[in-house]
Amino acid sequence: MDDPQNEIFELFPTPLMFCRQVLSSAECQQLIEHPKASATQVNHHSKDLTHTQIFFPDDDAFFAEVTRRINAKLVDMGHLLFGEKLNWSIKEMWMNFMKPGGGQAMHNHSNSFISGILYLSPTDPASRTVFFRGFGDRGFVFTNTHKDAETGPFNAEKWISPEPDAGDMVLFPSYLLHAVPLNQGDLRVSMAFNAIPERLQAWGYGISFAK
Ligand SMILES: [Fe+2]
Repeated sequence: MDDPQNEIFELFPTPLMFCRQVLSSAECQQLIEHPKASATQVNHHSKDLTHTQIFFPDDDAFFAEVTRRINAKLVDMGHLLFGEKLNWSIKEMWMNFMKPGGGQAMHNHSNSFISGILYLSPTDPASRTVFFRGFGDRGFVFTNTHKDAETGPFNAEKWISPEPDAGDMVLFPSYLLHAVPLNQGDLRVSMAFNAIPERLQAWGYGISFAK
């Protein structure tokens, strides 16, 4: 493995961007206390996880300011994914209130290219967002998972994101599977969102995405 004659290439890595302090703690609190932050939708898998209705960047001036800050990061993340600084917009956003004992089942986000989570409250280390390598679709899967096996970038099945502070944000490709393990801390509040580029193009043809 450590033979200097062997050159290893890590092919086709997946970008995930962790951004510190996108919002101040006062701004996080302002979002949590916003009139639209009424979490009335109970999650299908966990009664201790509730969601607000979907809201949009132009719903109010404060949302517009929050999305302006997120958009600057989306441009950088989109540059990694598509090799160009494109115009990005947030299609929809919503807030998640996870009580102690709540959790979020594994899922990904459809009709979107970049998704994000903005952490609005402290997050217990046990309920950091976990990202998963895809599963084997309908094929059989073989692993070599036991106490003597080393885990590295080529065989890991999951990745636990860094411990976030309130105001931190993570951006990831929307196809990436993720989940939140059972919350062992206090109320965990986050805002999630989906984003699309204005236009992608290849060989003279463009594909546009619009409201
Ligand atoms: Fe999600």
